[in-house]
Amino acid sequence: MPNKKNKAHIIVVGNEKGGSGKSTTAMHIVVSLMKKNYSVSVVDLDSRQKSLARYLENRLNYANAHDLTLSIPDVYILSRSMEGDVDNMMFEDTKNFSELIEELHKDSDFILIDCPGSDSNLARLAHSVADTLITPINDSFVDLDLLATVNPDTYKVEKLSLYSEMVWDARKHRAMTDRGTIDWIVMRNRVSTLDAKNKRRVNSALKELQKRVSFRYVQGLAERVIYRELFPKGLTLVDFRDTDEKVTMSHIAARQEIRRLMADLNLPEIEKEKPQADLKGNVA
Ligand SMILES: Nc1ncnc2c1ncn2[C@@H]1O[C@H](COP(=O)(O)OP(=O)(O)O)[C@@H](O)[C@H]1O
Ligand SMILES: [Mg+2]
Repeated sequence: MPNKKNKAHIIVVGNEKGGSGKSTTAMHIVVSLMKKNYSVSVVDLDSRQKSLARYLENRLNYANAHDLTLSIPDVYILSRSMEGDVDNMMFEDTKNFSELIEELHKDSDFILIDCPGSDSNLARLAHSVADTLITPINDSFVDLDLLATVNPDTYKVEKLSLYSEMVWDARKHRAMTDRGTIDWIVMRNRVSTLDAKNKRRVNSALKELQKRVSFRYVQGLAERVIYRELFPKGLTLVDFRDTDEKVTMSHIAARQEIRRLMADLNLPEIEKEKPQADLKGNVA
């Protein structure tokens, strides 16, 4: 393994709300990393929706149907245990999760874990092994409430949300087990190009919140139809050069924001020992 600690860097995309853009963001990060020739393993913990696994399945089908060379990671769907009592379920979840992650560490540079939009044992376990945790939130005060209750005038934090407390616990757990730290990044998603006033207010509130809740707030992604349209083809904005898709000005702007997001994530550069083979066995 090229990584100095002999471990993959674990990226977890999570929050306890569906539809905030976790799987869409996750997909763009995976493809961006694979474009840099990193080996990436994907774990989809949303075993009900399986959006990320489905996104990647669409990608495989599209690549085959159009004879395209697209990088596609290995995907593992982990379902929560339903056997026995609560203690037994917790035991089984922990065992299954730890075994899978240990295995993936062996030949991945990055492991990306996409969480469901609800609290679960598996989601908690994922948060507690994260090196980088990414929480996309939609651009509204309803979503800010997922992080903390804030005073409407001063934006001072009045109470941490259950989710922020869970991340706090995960950080404590991380510090105790391997003295690791979790770089928690909150990104806005589906930012409207129209509602300037709301945009400014949410921006100020997040700037205030980041100091108190200890996350890094980064700009994130705008609301763009293209993000919805890419799913059935399994494509991302990073792929356009490898396909026959027509590129418009809007795509170029969107690609820029993905590049900026990747830079903002501040992921480690991992030295490569050997080139990666792609889906069709071609070496880059
Ligand atoms: N920036 C965006 N602009 C427009 N639509 C988006 C954007 N991000 C996500 N979406 C759409 O919002 C819906 C929910 O996104 P998804 O990534 O599945 O969220 P989650 O994984 O958090 O449930 C999907 O239909 C997706 O295509
Ligand atoms: Mg999802």
